[in-house]
Amino acid sequence: MTSRAHVAGWGKYVPERVLTNDDLTQMVETSDEWIRSRTGILERRIASDSDTTASMAIEAAHEAIEMAGIRPSDIDMIIVATCTPDHVFPSTACLVQDAIGATHAAAFDVAAGCSGFVYGLSVAADLIAAEAYQTALVIGAETLSRIVDWEDRATCVLFGDGAGAVILRSNGADGGILSSVLGSDGSGGDLLHLPAGGSRHPASHHTVSERMHFLKMKGREVFRFAVSVMPDATRQVLGQAGLTLEEVSLIIPHQANRRITNASVKALGLPEDRIYSNVERYGNTSAASIPIALCEAVEEDRVHRDDLVVLVGFGAGLTWAASAVRWSAPLPTIRPARWEKAWYGIRYRYAAIRSLARRVIRWIAARFSRDE
Ligand code: UT7
Repeated sequence: MTSRAHVAGWGKYVPERVLTNDDLTQMVETSDEWIRSRTGILERRIASDSDTTASMAIEAAHEAIEMAGIRPSDIDMIIVATCTPDHVFPSTACLVQDAIGATHAAAFDVAAGCSGFVYGLSVAADLIAAEAYQTALVIGAETLSRIVDWEDRATCVLFGDGAGAVILRSNGADGGILSSVLGSDGSGGDLLHLPAGGSRHPASHHTVSERMHFLKMKGREVFRFAVSVMPDATRQVLGQAGLTLEEVSLIIPHQANRRITNASVKALGLPEDRIYSNVERYGNTSAASIPIALCEAVEEDRVHRDDLVVLVGFGAGLTWAASAVRWSAPLPTIRPARWEKAWYGIRYRYAAIRSLARRVIRWIAARFSRDE
């Protein structure tokens, strides 16, 4: 029997604070009309001071774990796709591992820009298919509001914060993640980048005064790249799975710009209702956009059992990625009962105590042990 990775749970977290286009007109020279007509975005969510990429990833992970009805200790791999990690290291995935009490999990981050979630999904699915792992937690999470230049109207109107997560489980049944396509073209790295903070330009007075810790983008070039790569990757991933466009129930693309998604469905010759969009509510949340959109598509009853769904993204790198998924999760979604939620709450509190105990033991060991 061949193992396949099936989506067994999903969850999302978006911060409460809403920033509308009208709010942005108070900050930079722009208009609701320009933002709507050029991007389709009406509003986006902005992280509170206490939110971080990890804290949002953890909230999304809780929902996905509870939906899948698994124990955190069942998870044997955690992948967090992000370009706004809490730290360069440790990885955000390790912060998630500790907070949820996934005591048997390997954990690492993926940096593939907005394609990162599909990159992570593909890696996890292949490792599950190879029977190296059984249960993976794949998260896309971003706090882009912390790297956006709020004085640059060409970029600050586009981005938002949030997190989405899925649990993948090994199962012998047909369906699940059928195929994936991953691609890159580093020659376009300068089209969308964060110049400073790495080994090339470590933080200094100069990098700060030159605003080099903010995201820079050549929007038109990225737009051109996106409208060509999205249809190509979609066709390729379907071809690889031996499927046709006509069989696709829903395409869930990276939510960057309504004009990009409209141009992609047009290029594919599909009706507009075959592509999912929530960019109007959240803007571009980079690696978080596809898992958030997937969660909402399921919640809105746009995905049904045995549907063929294509997830397709593009982003910094440049990178692109697509996965063809035969949706095999039981629907309608079964929300955990109140007592189950309470039980999970106890587990997460236990994870926090366990983490604290390990820190204390390490502190005592460092203080009282003598080095040879
Ligand atoms: O996740 C992957 C990352 N990124 C993307 O997917 C972004 C891809 N690119 C895009 O979505 C579009 O290129 C943008 C939405 C970023 C820009 O739309 P555009 O139609 O390509 O506009 P543009 O950059 O060509 O700018 C047109 C005009 C310029 O003025 P001039 O030079 O024609 O006088 C800009 O200065 O619009 C001006 N402009 C604005 N005006 C009002 C740029 N930003 C704004 C703004 N409000 N916020």
